[in-house]
Amino acid sequence: MNSEVCEEVTSFFGNIMENAIFEKDVTSRKLISVVLVTLFTGPSSWVLLCILYNVFLHPLRKYPGPKSWHATRLPWCWYQYHGCLNRKLLELHQQYGKTVRVAPNELSFISEAAWKTIYGSRSNEMMKDPVFSLHTPTGVQNILTADRPTHTRQRRLLSHAFSEKALREQEAIIQRYVKRLMEQLALRSAYDLIRDLSFGEQFGCLENGEYDPFVQSIKDISKELTMIQMFKYYELLGLRRFFMPKAIAGTRAQNMQRVIQTVDRRVKSKTNRKDFLHYILAAMETDKGMSRAEMDVNTFSLSIAGSESSATLLCGFVFYTLTHPTVYQKLVTEVREAFQSEDQIVMANVHHLTYLNAVLQECLRVYPPVAVTLPRVVPEGGEVIDGGYVPAGTTVGVNHFACYHDQRNFYRPNEFLPERWMPGAEDETSLFSHDQRNCLQPFSLGPRNCLGKNLAWAEIRLITVHLIYLFDMELDRSVGDRWTERQKVFGFWDKPPLLVHLMPKHKTTM
Ligand code: HEM
Repeated sequence: MNSEVCEEVTSFFGNIMENAIFEKDVTSRKLISVVLVTLFTGPSSWVLLCILYNVFLHPLRKYPGPKSWHATRLPWCWYQYHGCLNRKLLELHQQYGKTVRVAPNELSFISEAAWKTIYGSRSNEMMKDPVFSLHTPTGVQNILTADRPTHTRQRRLLSHAFSEKALREQEAIIQRYVKRLMEQLALRSAYDLIRDLSFGEQFGCLENGEYDPFVQSIKDISKELTMIQMFKYYELLGLRRFFMPKAIAGTRAQNMQRVIQTVDRRVKSKTNRKDFLHYILAAMETDKGMSRAEMDVNTFSLSIAGSESSATLLCGFVFYTLTHPTVYQKLVTEVREAFQSEDQIVMANVHHLTYLNAVLQECLRVYPPVAVTLPRVVPEGGEVIDGGYVPAGTTVGVNHFACYHDQRNFYRPNEFLPERWMPGAEDETSLFSHDQRNCLQPFSLGPRNCLGKNLAWAEIRLITVHLIYLFDMELDRSVGDRWTERQKVFGFWDKPPLLVHLMPKHKTTM
């Protein structure tokens, strides 16, 4: 024990003993003796020793952060349970700096250097933290949870479904949903589209004007996953049924069953349409293919990962552009000047709209669809992250929300300012010259980054350009201008309704 630690421990016990010895009244002496007996016998002594170790002796003790967070993971769990962990992490980073110890064995970072070291490609990859990387309902690994060799195999197989060629082949399917969305004047296409690409079946959200039960349940699934993570940390998974709200428990397993049945129908249908399963089935003929169980879990994950995230970005786009009239007007001008007719709005033509791209980047920053920390474990030998040595086995990660809202990374971080992504924003004279642009990594980095990134961009650009081209939009008064501020995060944002008035665009602007 080094002298600094000794001093801290001594003063900690010193305070207790001072009160015990010098306190004249009997009640407090009795209280102290009860505390001491309890402390040094039974399970509570074990808990106390763990707390003392975590605070005073743990290899991460020197990292800044509140002592209560150093002592146990309970404060972290409390904020996670209430859906406000990301905002709290931002607060902690503002108070304690760029690196904060947010649990006995976890460090949170918000710098560009940390992004690269933790998530970037490297020979000894930082694996996903098994405690927080959740197993699928059937126990079979999917691409998001898989260990390295399984991940490499699954990713190689799935990447055919996300290649440029596949995207071009999928354009007809994507366009069909964009058109339908425009006809229905609703914002449900992300779900319908992904279901079609994943299973070759439709949710029918657009036709029915209602959410399919699977879409409805995504919220419950992400809450269930958040709860399971916490129980897993304390190895109390067996107790989860006592604490899990009834509406949530078992949602994943039920949906997994529905996915299995849907995949069954798709496999039997023998169609040649170029959806995700087309590529997976083609690879099944080879010995490097996926097993049927792997197909089920990956289809399940794709249908969640691919729909909720894009839907969130779309909601963020609608909310932020409509609450910023100047931005909205600039977008209208850019889009309506770029296209003379709706038919021209195809994937190949929507890439280069500079202002639209800046607006979407800013939406991803202020309202990131993945707002959480994606935890990794430091491999054997430890690692220097953002200038500090971190021992092997430590959980590390960059919190998307905190990183994007920190004033050290972005000028006026809480404001919606698409100009920061426009050409010239990096010039010395620009207000945004000190922005750390590479800190924005909404699709993550490295070997486990988002496989659907190109699809997401294509889908979102097509939808937003169609929306702006065809409609004049106005936010319903019920939404107000603080729609995002009240939201909690349980894996995904818990979004309240976002009501928008859509009117066919004004004739004079055609
Ligand atoms: C705006 C939309 C989207 C955002 C912000 C987003 C973000 C992310 C992020 C941050 C990850 C890393 C997860 C981790 O490290 O655990 C990820 C992984 C993934 N995403 Fe997306 N995503 C989006 C849309 C999509 C779409 C449309 C699909 C297609 C179905 C998709 C499929 C995937 C897959 C398969 C992975 C796992 C990749 C791997 O582990 O190798 N995503 N996404």
